[in-house]
Amino acid sequence: MEPFRIKTVEPIPFLSAEERQQILDEVDHNIFRVRACDVTIDLLTDSGTTAMSSAQWSALLRGDESYAGGSSYERFEQTARELTGFPKMIPTHQGRGAERILFTEMLSPGQITASNTHFDSTRANIEMLDCRAVDLPCPEAADLIDQSPFKGNIDLDQLRELLAGPDGEKLGAVIMTVTNNAGGGQPVSLANLRSTQEVCQKYRVPLLLDASRFAENAHLIVAREPGQENRSPREVARTMFDLADGCWASLKKDGLSNTGGLIALRDTETAARCRELLIAWEGFPTYGGLTGRDLEALAQGLREVTEPAYLADRAETAQWFADALAEAGLPVMRPASCHAVYADAGRLLPHIPPTEFPGVALVCELYRAAGVRTTEFGTLTLGHDDKPAPHELVRLALPRRVYTRSHLEYVVEAVSDAVGRAEQLTGYELAGPQPPMRHFTARLSPL
Ligand code: F0G
Repeated sequence: MEPFRIKTVEPIPFLSAEERQQILDEVDHNIFRVRACDVTIDLLTDSGTTAMSSAQWSALLRGDESYAGGSSYERFEQTARELTGFPKMIPTHQGRGAERILFTEMLSPGQITASNTHFDSTRANIEMLDCRAVDLPCPEAADLIDQSPFKGNIDLDQLRELLAGPDGEKLGAVIMTVTNNAGGGQPVSLANLRSTQEVCQKYRVPLLLDASRFAENAHLIVAREPGQENRSPREVARTMFDLADGCWASLKKDGLSNTGGLIALRDTETAARCRELLIAWEGFPTYGGLTGRDLEALAQGLREVTEPAYLADRAETAQWFADALAEAGLPVMRPASCHAVYADAGRLLPHIPPTEFPGVALVCELYRAAGVRTTEFGTLTLGHDDKPAPHELVRLALPRRVYTRSHLEYVVEAVSDAVGRAEQLTGYELAGPQPPMRHFTARLSPL
């Protein structure tokens, strides 16, 4: 059962299928443009959607809103330093603010970053600096139902090949996204991180973690990696950080808060230069785009997120949800991760080609029929122009501490109904311009 009880509640809206069909038509079938007040169960993202604890809400009142040198920053900085072991902490308003600063400071035009998989905002921030982001997921990741425990790993052979080859000189950083969100929320093992560190040290390339879901990755290491079973998630997280030269994170995930980001570094000079950009783009170094109360909520959230009971419940819920959806007939990615279940819309809807966005068809149907909001992680989001994504996925993300099993049972029923209508679903056509991250603004019409 959930290791918390509920103190504050919000009503859930229930619209009719006809009302939702009209809404879909009005928003050009782009789920990001549906108003939240028209959504019954919102599994769009686990980012910024966390329910805060009573301890976090009470910490808000302690927020010190001084422009410079506030005590809330000191509490945030100390908590993050104890957790990560990195001596230099730079708060940002969210993850992509951290990405922009860190990459502007660390990369020069023409350089390359290699990663287990770059998240979309990470890739966008790298490419906007005229650099190239190369994804090197491990081979097991390509098989959605392969049960390997660490499908978030980087392909070490390919990384070595890249570094030893003609482009090796151009490598500006190796990035490990933990857990690997664009790769299905799959975790990275300590063994893979260790070997990556060795390779990076040999070639003198900095190793950075995108630590947005560090606690979930640490929990999955404890649960799955031989020799780690008797350690706490916090100890394992510390080992992960110890292997890297620095990290950044969107704290809207494992910061258990509604906003926030972080850069944490070992190197004093890099940190000093990042702070100069921080002042220009985010704010003074002791608040970095956040309020004092945000920093308080984060300091408390970063302590709560590594609690074993919280993490075990989160992983068990995701596992239960994946199993129940599979039983309802939805092909899902294996093994289950923590923050979401990824469904294989390509396999559910083989009659819809990638160019007609099978993931969008499933997303729209779940919203139309049941008011369940999910998001496409297929050709619309991860492909471009005529290049389809490797898989046509739909992500059912799990906001932290927000929905109970009974809410998720409702989703399973909705999915079961939609699966029964799979053959009748049709694809979508994309209209209008196609900017980077086109999924946020796309206009689509059913075929
Ligand atoms: N890195 C990862 C792995 C992410 O999942 C995200 C955001 C970011 C960086 C950017 O952080 O949103 O705070 O600016 N992921 C969200 C999602 C948006 O829905 O998965 P941000």
